[in-house]
Order: sequence, then structure tokens, then C-alpha cells
Amino acid sequence: MVSFQQAVDLKPYNTFGLHARARYFVSVETADQLRDVLNSHIFKNEKRLILGGGSNLLLTKDFDGLVILNRFRGIDILEQNDDRITLSVASGEEWHPFVMHCVNNNWGGIENLALIPGTVGAAPMQNIGAYGVEVREVIEQVQGIELSNGNEMTFNNDECMFGYRESVFKYEWRERIFISSVTLSLTKKNHRLRLEYGTIKETLNAMNITTPTIQSIAQAVIAIRQSKLPDPRITGNSGSFFKNPTIPIQHYEMIVKEHPTMPGYRSENQLVKIPAAWLIESCGWKGKKYKHAGVHHQQALVLINDGNATGEEILELSHLIQDDVNKKFGIQLSPEVNII
Ligand code: EPU
Repeated sequence: MVSFQQAVDLKPYNTFGLHARARYFVSVETADQLRDVLNSHIFKNEKRLILGGGSNLLLTKDFDGLVILNRFRGIDILEQNDDRITLSVASGEEWHPFVMHCVNNNWGGIENLALIPGTVGAAPMQNIGAYGVEVREVIEQVQGIELSNGNEMTFNNDECMFGYRESVFKYEWRERIFISSVTLSLTKKNHRLRLEYGTIKETLNAMNITTPTIQSIAQAVIAIRQSKLPDPRITGNSGSFFKNPTIPIQHYEMIVKEHPTMPGYRSENQLVKIPAAWLIESCGWKGKKYKHAGVHHQQALVLINDGNATGEEILELSHLIQDDVNKKFGIQLSPEVNII
């Protein structure tokens, strides 16, 4: 049987470290426990919020409903040959320890995604990505349990409709499915090493590594992230707060005339992706404080909690930033985090 708690402070369950109370709270470890929840009176009558690592979440007020905490665990090998291995990973597993488990076993494909906070189940939800790799590249399937009837469902890679920090789980399946496990296919040899993005090569050089491996890439990514991104256990944050916007090339060329240092990366369909961090920094926000919230001094895309911020304050800060970027560049930033 599952046990429901009431008036639970969600501070330990969100990486911004914000206080917000859940009217009801339940933690589930198995599909049977989840089905007990789905059959309960509370579930049927309340709004719901499924929580994994709480690393992509801004809680602006108490949650007047039921929070379901995902504690599904387990990593199973489904099949393997000399070249590849297929794993089924329970959605409540923490992402970074899972990455290190793979790296330590010399299974390649997700080493560039080391140190991303959150759970395995949240990874497909927003198609996590870093240092030139997105999780969509290794996902074969996502398994879920439909909230309306407890049925199991499988989405193959195409059906997940992955995009930049997007998937079908953020849109048509939002609040309709509990992701229960993710099936990933990784390499056991001839790993495809991705070294092009950002400072990976320089970091490997500084580490005196001339023949990179998936292990040394993971170490380099960890070093880069630790040097730039605040540790949520010390400073509340949820990684990048906004997505990097894409704008039509004509708009880009217009802005660049006035701001020649603005970086831009050509993507498909005559679009250019602009680093939101650059836009925010150009508006003077980097390292700035607003009430008890602030903009990280080493990465302008990361909003932080000084320990006493409310979710409202962080939201207000995000609006001020959006307004300034819009006024100066005519670009509308969209949040990457889920605002509740
Ligand atoms: N930049 C600035 N000011 C800053 C930081 C960066 O101007 O304070 C500019 C620089 O031009 C830099 C560029 O922004 O070259 C890109 O910066 P960075 O490589 O740090 O990456 P990002 O685009 O800001 C994205 C992801 C991160 C991911 C990194 C590394 C998004 C929204 N964010 O950030 O993902 O770790 O690339 O691959 O796409 C996350 O999603 O939570 C996250 C941390």
C-alpha cells in the first residue's frame, strides 16, 4: 500500500531549493504502487505533479494538489553483442550516477551528458543535451504508464518527436503519462567521440590527455561544468533557465550590424541560434541580484537562489530579463524550466 502525506515541504525535491507545500504527497517505487495511486480517491480528485529530480522546475507557490515522487529504480541489460549494449533504465534512477555507471563499464554515447542533474525519466522529457550531444541520439524507446487507466505504453524514438529541449511528453502527453523506463543503446567499442563543442579539446589538453576516451571526455565535461555551473546542493538553480532562441537569418543579420560581437550558429530552415547567455549578459544582468534571486556570475543563463528567494522572486527576475532582451534585441526568450 502507498501512503499519502499532507502539507509536505517540497524544498528537498527541487534543485532551486524553494519552499512550497504540496497538499498531498506520495512516493512510488513500482508500477503496482503507481497503480494504487491512480486508483485512489485523492488522485482522481486532485491536480497532479510528477516529480523526478526536480531539476527543471520553478515552484512559484504551494501546489494545491498531489505530488507523485518517482522512485522507480533499476538498470537492466536487455541485449548485447561485441559492439553494442541495450539497457532498460528505470525512470527514477539519477542521471549522473547512471552516466558514470556506463562510462565505468566503457559503454559510450552519453559521456558528454555527465553531471546533468535530474533523473533518467526526465531526460527524454526535455531531450537533455550538452557539449554537442542530445539524449535522443541513444534512446530507442520510452516506456510509460498512462495515468487515466494504468496501461503500459511504449514510444519508439520517432514517436517521442524529439526537438531542441522538446518532446511529445511536454506537449500532447503532458500530465497524461508517467515515464517508467527508458531503453538506450550504447556502444561497447569504436566509440564516437564528440570533442568539437566548446572547450572540451582545450580541457583535455590541459589535462595532458592526447588520446581521448569516453572516460576522459566525462572527466573533461565534469571539470567544465564544475567550473561554470553552480552546484545545486550549494546554490539553488535549475541549470539553463531559458532556451537558446532561434531567429530568422534576416533578423540575425539586422541585429549583428548593430552588435557585431553577437554569436550565432546557423541551424536548419534559414534560422540562427543565438546563445541566450550572451543576450542576457549584454543587457548587463550577469552576476546581478534581484531581491533574493540572481543571475550566476559565470553563466548568465543560470538563475540562482541566494538561499532565501521565493519562486515568485525568481519568476519576477526572469520577466525583467525577458523584457530587457526583448527591448534591446527584439528577441523573446522562452523559459526552459517548467513553471508551476
Ligand atoms: N555566453 C555568454 N555569457 C555567459 C555564458 C555564455 O555570452 O555568461 C555565450 C558565449 O558566447 C558561449 C555561448 O554563450 O560561447 C554558449 O555558452 P555555453 O557553452 O555555456 O552553453 P549555453 O548555450 O549557454 C547550453 C545548454 C546547457 C549545456 C551547454 C553546454 C541550453 C538552454 N543550455 O548552454 O544545458 O550544458 O549548452 O552544452 O541549450 C541546461 O539545459 O540546463 C543546460 C545547462
